Amino acid sequence: MRFLTKKIEENCSDMIISYMFENERNDSEMFKYLNKLSNKELEKQLYEYKTIKGALSETFKYSLNNDKKVIILGLGKKENLTRKKFAQAIASAARCAKTITGAKTIGFELIENINQCDCNYSNFEKDDAAKIIFSSARIGLYSFDKYLHEKKDTIETIEILDNEINSKIEYGAQIGAYTSYAMKFAKDLVNESAQIVTPEYIADLACEIAKEHNLNIKIYNKKEIKELGMNAFLAVGQGSVNEPKFIHLTYKPKQNPRKKIALIGKGITFDAGGLDIKPATSMLNMKNDMTGAASVLGIIQAISKIEPDIELHVLSALCENMPSGSSYKQGDVLTAKNGKTIEVDNTDAEGRITLADALCYADTLEVDEVIDIATLTGAVIVSLGTNITGIMGNNQKQIDKFIEISKKSCENTWQMPILDELKENLKSDIADMKNTGGKNAGTSTAAWFLSNFTKSKNWLHIDIAGTAMADKLNKETIFGPSGVMIRTLINYLLS
Ligand code: BES
Ligand code: MN
Ligand code: ZN
Repeated sequence: MRFLTKKIEENCSDMIISYMFENERNDSEMFKYLNKLSNKELEKQLYEYKTIKGALSETFKYSLNNDKKVIILGLGKKENLTRKKFAQAIASAARCAKTITGAKTIGFELIENINQCDCNYSNFEKDDAAKIIFSSARIGLYSFDKYLHEKKDTIETIEILDNEINSKIEYGAQIGAYTSYAMKFAKDLVNESAQIVTPEYIADLACEIAKEHNLNIKIYNKKEIKELGMNAFLAVGQGSVNEPKFIHLTYKPKQNPRKKIALIGKGITFDAGGLDIKPATSMLNMKNDMTGAASVLGIIQAISKIEPDIELHVLSALCENMPSGSSYKQGDVLTAKNGKTIEVDNTDAEGRITLADALCYADTLEVDEVIDIATLTGAVIVSLGTNITGIMGNNQKQIDKFIEISKKSCENTWQMPILDELKENLKSDIADMKNTGGKNAGTSTAAWFLSNFTKSKNWLHIDIAGTAMADKLNKETIFGPSGVMIRTLINYLLS
């Protein structure tokens, strides 16, 4: 898909999207242009016949001629508009455009700066709007049609149309476009079958990415993982015929880096639960247990295109969690890279074991911050549902900043606590800790477990088990992998 910014009259759109606030007239240059092309029929429809009232995400389709159509997109009451509502409306307009057969290029009017009381992130400028338009339109249009005979993706180009595009707007638009690419990349990889997406497949893909974007890459095979002392991670993968891989990609800026960040993605390519095998229905979506890995691989591609002055290390401990004769067993004591020992209480709490070694590895990189993103606990679904991501960490300043940026990135987050008292839950008689601690406070307990394996004073943990798959609460994308937190993480890295 191509992303372009253009002057209004230079558009090549088959379909143009303009806006209407509830009970307000649009007097933008774009509306005037469209109205003129319609011989003023458009203003009659909207303001005389009141065909739509302009409620949020309401759409009115109008045909200017055979090859140019218009969608007037309702944005609700102006004083109620927020970034997130704008993003949702853009996504629904893009989906509406997709239903018009033959449309290949869609153009969006660039909304004017919204300056009002900044409660609820309702203030945004044209560069934010450009960012939102490109990312949300692409998300709205997304479908995984690789295995469908009937292809659904027909739109090839998205244009942002405005007569005063300056470099700030252009930069926002660019970030939006690269972000949407990262999200599409991650969604495609998560949607692909676990039969195909094995640790080796992701490792090969990482090599291709490194080649294309000129990144440093190191892939560790089973023997090398052992040499590094990541025996906890190795144990999780030992029940599978597919060998584990550990990947480390590095983006280095041309200038001296302003900050160095390690980003770890949970990479269980299929989570059957191991010997603590999951019930069949709980296993249905478990090819998505590598969403963290897919996300960080998408993010590093966007970052190497945007070229900020930061150093970014992307890490993932990739393996399958399968039951078999060679699986790791309940009661096994594992030794992580930092020497701490773990008694296996439940083989289905595998993500934290693989992340433990990845966190230890990150400690060797001398970075300023360590962030992990993981489909880690079913418990986060119980506490926050399927539309809010759980955020934890050991530095309140970093957490506050991250949550602030998530709101500006149109994503829902909520902080969960990590209290030292939680260690009682994981007490073991024969090892430093167990890997599970009963049914209470599962998300916080898992985070407390992880906190034992990092020395970083700026460690942030993102639990996306509830939000990695979109459901009907998510108004931007269809059911399936959501690409959650990719926007926030890219904006965080750029901050
Ligand atoms: N990958 C799962 C978590 C998960 C659950 C992700 C539902 C997406 C949707 C994780 O490895 C897991 O199995 N966690 C267990 C931990 C338990 C055994 C303490 C869980 O949450 O049930
Ligand atoms: Mn599991
Ligand atoms: Zn898992």
